[in-house]
Amino acid sequence: MKEKVLNGFEKVFGDKAGARCFFAPGRVNLIGEHTDYNGGHVFPCALTIGTYAAVKKRDDSLLRFYSLNFEDVGVIEVDLKEELKPVKERDWANYPLGIIWAFAERGMKIEKGFDIVLYGNIPNGSGLSSSASVEVLTGYILKELYGFKDVTNIDLALIGQFSENRFNGVNCGIMDQFAIAMGKVDSAIFLDTNTLKYEYTPVRLKNAKLVIACSNKKRGLGDSKYNERRAQCEEALKRIQTVKDVKTLGDLTEEEFESVRSAIGDPILEKRAKHAVYENRRTVKAVEYLMKDDIETFGKLMIDSDTSLREDYEVTGKELDTLVREALKVKGVIGSRMTGAGFGGCTVSIVKDEAVDEFIKSVGAAYKNEIGYDADFYTVNIGDGPKEI
Ligand code: GLA
Repeated sequence: MKEKVLNGFEKVFGDKAGARCFFAPGRVNLIGEHTDYNGGHVFPCALTIGTYAAVKKRDDSLLRFYSLNFEDVGVIEVDLKEELKPVKERDWANYPLGIIWAFAERGMKIEKGFDIVLYGNIPNGSGLSSSASVEVLTGYILKELYGFKDVTNIDLALIGQFSENRFNGVNCGIMDQFAIAMGKVDSAIFLDTNTLKYEYTPVRLKNAKLVIACSNKKRGLGDSKYNERRAQCEEALKRIQTVKDVKTLGDLTEEEFESVRSAIGDPILEKRAKHAVYENRRTVKAVEYLMKDDIETFGKLMIDSDTSLREDYEVTGKELDTLVREALKVKGVIGSRMTGAGFGGCTVSIVKDEAVDEFIKSVGAAYKNEIGYDADFYTVNIGDGPKEI
């Protein structure tokens, strides 16, 4: 991959001498979905697939971006002397630009530009956070190239979220950027999004693998119902607060929620809040089981998570539902659920080693038959956060 981005750099920008190469992972969330903006827990991990970059500083104020994934978009040029704001024609470059803007907002303005070539082996728009990967990668590069040594990896996560919220207009939580910036090989991150306290939990799947099934139904968070779900949860919380002193939905136990849910007074909002509360508690329990090496119960809780996302949060859709339903028919599947924002994207399943081939074959065939196009499958490994390579 390093060769690939370096060769790309040479082809597009000429001399690659002095270019430095970096990597940031993608992420998959094992459980704890749509809890991160509700003050709940999440349990994601960084992957060994991600985004690669070759980059070289310039002596003037130009930024030149090129992606080997979007070659038809060509070179995107921006002058640092202009006021940075999202511009539709700049396409994917709005993600790195958002980070440059966010650094400046925090007093870390850069004057000299750079040339950069990116290549990602995360399927784009799949729910494995290709955009957060680009954000954290850019932040890491700025830190290394411009000497912002005090910026920690947690800062990179917060800056990534800030730019996504304020520059790119998606009201996402902290999970994706945190999982990517703080990734650790073979571990998932048990993160309390209320306090940003976190713990690494080793993921020991014994004789099983993590398999991602990508629905190939494209979605962009911006045009999805993501912001609407968030607003619904905020409204439900407001109504609960009229009868109970509570700061976030993540503060409630299931019992407490049941005792106040009638205050919400709207069946849809009630379902949304129910998911947020129960999913948070489920995540805490699931991590306890994983720590006891009880993968079976962890898998069952993944399935419960999916049911709740389908029935109460309503963020799945027929593509994801088909993938999970078919997965659960395969002997040797320990757990399966949609992962990420939903509305397309991927599922994550824990599949026994001996069942992986059968899983890919039979889920793939049933999906094609029902949906009309192929799903893609990836057996993934858990990797580290951003680094120079
Ligand atoms: C997207 C967002 C995250 C999180 C998930 C759902 O990935 O970026 O912050 O809300 O959806 O769990």
